[in-house]
Amino acid sequence: MPKIAVVPGDGIGPEVIHEALRVLSFLAPDVTTEAFDLGADRYLRDGTTMPPEVMHRFGTEFDAVLLGALGDPRVPSNVHAKDILLGSRFQLDLYINFRPCKLLDARYCPLKDKTEADVDFVVFRENTEGIYMGVGGQFKRGTADEIAVEEEINTRKGVERIIRAAFEWAVKNGKTKVCMSDKANAMRHGHDLWQRVFKLVAAEYPGIKASHLYVDVLAMRLVQAPQDFQVIVTNNLFGDILTDIGAALQGGIGLASSGNIHPGKAALFEPVHGSAPDIAGQGIANPLASILTVGMMLTYLGRPELEARVQAAVQGCLKSGQVTRELGGTLTTREAADAVIARL
Ligand code: NAD
Ligand code: IPM
Ligand code: MN
Repeated sequence: MPKIAVVPGDGIGPEVIHEALRVLSFLAPDVTTEAFDLGADRYLRDGTTMPPEVMHRFGTEFDAVLLGALGDPRVPSNVHAKDILLGSRFQLDLYINFRPCKLLDARYCPLKDKTEADVDFVVFRENTEGIYMGVGGQFKRGTADEIAVEEEINTRKGVERIIRAAFEWAVKNGKTKVCMSDKANAMRHGHDLWQRVFKLVAAEYPGIKASHLYVDVLAMRLVQAPQDFQVIVTNNLFGDILTDIGAALQGGIGLASSGNIHPGKAALFEPVHGSAPDIAGQGIANPLASILTVGMMLTYLGRPELEARVQAAVQGCLKSGQVTRELGGTLTTREAADAVIARL
């Protein structure tokens, strides 16, 4: 019986996770869940961000963690999100941030004349290093002479394992192309390492066409010709940015799902979107990203047939216009989830 830790989090997080859990219990009633009161409310109440014993339990007791979103205007430092979300990614060593970008209905694609076959790629975002590590500091803060340093960490081991994960996934899923993206023309130390490691790993996969694009060009190409891409592998920051472009291509941030995974060890699943303070509490957030995220989690738990059913049901809703407002529909968060469950 799989055991899932649930962190609804802030803003629309609890709203969309509530609906995603209804889908989960409908499809997989044997899965048990335990909710964790972590987020801005808890932090403002008692100062707790991420208790070490909870982190330990996430890594040892649960098959996966399901998270809504973290971020609240009342906590401008975002310290709780850093400790809970980035803390989980780093401390549980969830080195793969797996973010599929798949258009389920052409009408929601912002590009003209693109079909569903044109937007179907996945991004392997490095998730444990890069510029997210918080290495750096401020000197003479608040003065005219202030200096702020943010260091980017790239390790041979970290770069190699994410690149290898991308190739392995390509092979297992019948894909033929992997594109690595960096900015080695300007970032000559860390991204030179990416270049060299990519060539070495690519040589082990002669059946896969390995290519490289600088990230500025890739951002452009994703908009001009998304059909050219199957698997993209890149660093933490570039992966963050490229997957918001990918979210837009697949119909919007309300549809984008993700998994933070260390194969064989631990995993945390979450929609790509944030806590959306601008629409929180109104019952209008799109729950489909979280529902698709539950689908991804079910595949991780060894039940890919259930993810296929989730995708088909979501696609059916999109095709018949049973969607929330930001996609041009009229449904509330709850009604959008009801429509998915009715199809299931
Ligand atoms: P956001 O993704 O929360 O919102 C961006 C825009 O998309 C907003 O207009 C919002 O209304 C809309 N949107 C997002 N999700 C939606 C949904 N499910 N349905 C309909 N519309 C949706 O990004 P932001 O505004 O930059 O960030 C808000 C807060 O969330 C910040 O504190 C940020 O740090 C945090 N954040 C957290 C995560 C996470 O926990 N994984 C991810 C991204 C941002
Ligand atoms: C994401 C988010 C996070 C990130 C933020 C909230 C730190 O944007 O998961 O895409 O940058 O990784
Ligand atoms: Mn992001």
